[in-house]
Amino acid sequence: MAEFKEISPNASAGEKLGNWFNNRFPTAFSAYRDHLSEYYAPKNFNFWYFFGSLALLVLVIQIVTGIFLVMHYKPDAALAFASVEYIMRDVPWGWLVRYMHSTGASAFFVVVYLHMFRGLIYGSYRKPRELVWIFGCSIFLVLMAEAFMGYLLPWGQMSYWGAQVIVNLFAAIPFIGPDLALLIRGDYVVSDATLNRFFSFHVIAVPLVLLGLVVAHILALHDVGSNNPDGVEIKGPNAPKDANGKPLDGIPFHPYYTVHDILGVSVFLLIFSAVIFFAPEFGGYFLEYNNFIPADPLKTPAHIAPVWYFTPYYSMLRAITTEMMYVLVLCVVAAGAFGVLRTELPKLFKGAILIATVVGIAVMLAIDAKFWGVVVMGGAVIIMFFLPWLDYSPVRSIRYRPSWHKYVYGVFVINFFVLGYLGVQPPSPIGERVSQVGTLFYFGFFLLMPWWSRLGEPKPVPERITFAAH
Ligand code: HEM
Repeated sequence: MAEFKEISPNASAGEKLGNWFNNRFPTAFSAYRDHLSEYYAPKNFNFWYFFGSLALLVLVIQIVTGIFLVMHYKPDAALAFASVEYIMRDVPWGWLVRYMHSTGASAFFVVVYLHMFRGLIYGSYRKPRELVWIFGCSIFLVLMAEAFMGYLLPWGQMSYWGAQVIVNLFAAIPFIGPDLALLIRGDYVVSDATLNRFFSFHVIAVPLVLLGLVVAHILALHDVGSNNPDGVEIKGPNAPKDANGKPLDGIPFHPYYTVHDILGVSVFLLIFSAVIFFAPEFGGYFLEYNNFIPADPLKTPAHIAPVWYFTPYYSMLRAITTEMMYVLVLCVVAAGAFGVLRTELPKLFKGAILIATVVGIAVMLAIDAKFWGVVVMGGAVIIMFFLPWLDYSPVRSIRYRPSWHKYVYGVFVINFFVLGYLGVQPPSPIGERVSQVGTLFYFGFFLLMPWWSRLGEPKPVPERITFAAH
């Protein structure tokens, strides 16, 4: 046990109380110093750096509103829909709690997408922050599972049929698929058993995992220190420091960034409240109109679309038709030929590439396109985990990359929006073509990154971060 620190009998009551706690719980004080008052963050953070703290805020909003919803919600196929209507009409302030939670789900994805995009443009995923990024990608995956299971709970038409479509996708996996889908549903169709297990996962299992990952994400970040818009290290061995070893280009997180983040929180809450009070359904994007009709297992809605944050991936799933498989086979042939024709590789390697290509093509043609659609949809998220090992640019931040790289990122964003839009629309021949091109661009962006990220002349990177006080 550490030695008790004595304090002057003349000290103020507050100091005495502080000393009393410090002698009994020093870890809390050192955690406060390590993560807030003496955590040095680069002084040039811009608005892109609001979204981490905003994601934390939305996480808290979801947990708190979720606790109140559970007090009145009934996880029973015969009662669920009516219990949500009861919350909306009869529970005091129930409508507000429910709209905060449903808007919060969409807000979570808005904030997290912007947060991820910041990481992408400033190269925050690169060494030494690979694990921060990997924890982030895992959070994103878990968040998708959380949102998907939450959407089943109101037991409306979209809840029911959306779950039916997505769970059936698992059945496309060769060998284990049908059993896996049965395990997820707990029945041969989506039913009361499915609702009960999704409820259990949504309210306790997944949030626990999410919280653990968020803690790991922030602890890992604080071990290596934050990146910044210049992508210049402020804590590295060559970074300028004062006589006490504190980074000259850093400022303590508290009070500087706690105050800074209050601005972000205020703007966020203004927009968040505006949506809750004036457009909680958000034109059918946050709460789909079909979900105001109770689930009917005998009546399939004419058009089933997931909520907006899943639609880019849903588009990629629908893009993989039998015809598209031939294009993908051509891509595999091109990649194989490139590997074999590269002169510097040893013969043994070339042989292995050739065999892998032939086997790959055979497997691609042997299994149904539906399965590859599922693989592409999952792969679109999984590929993000590998970003730290795909980017070969000599510089970290977009600020110092060749100017045309900005257009590549710009097209990537537009493409993501187009895929998202198409995912909401009913299938059409033109939509199908566009989503196929979009899918190729999406994967090309990542898979060809080792090549294109090296191209062009980077701009000179400053020794220290650039910052103009305002
Ligand atoms: C619940 C979701 C999340 C929460 C609460 C969260 C929280 C945070 C916080 C508080 C920070 C520090 C402040 C900041 O840099 O903005 C941060 C940094 C970071 N996050 Fe997240 N995050 C979440 C999801 C994600 C996801 C999905 C990714 C990527 C796939 C990600 C990647 C990163 C990276 C790379 C950094 C370091 C950024 C830098 O230093 O430039 N995070 N996160």
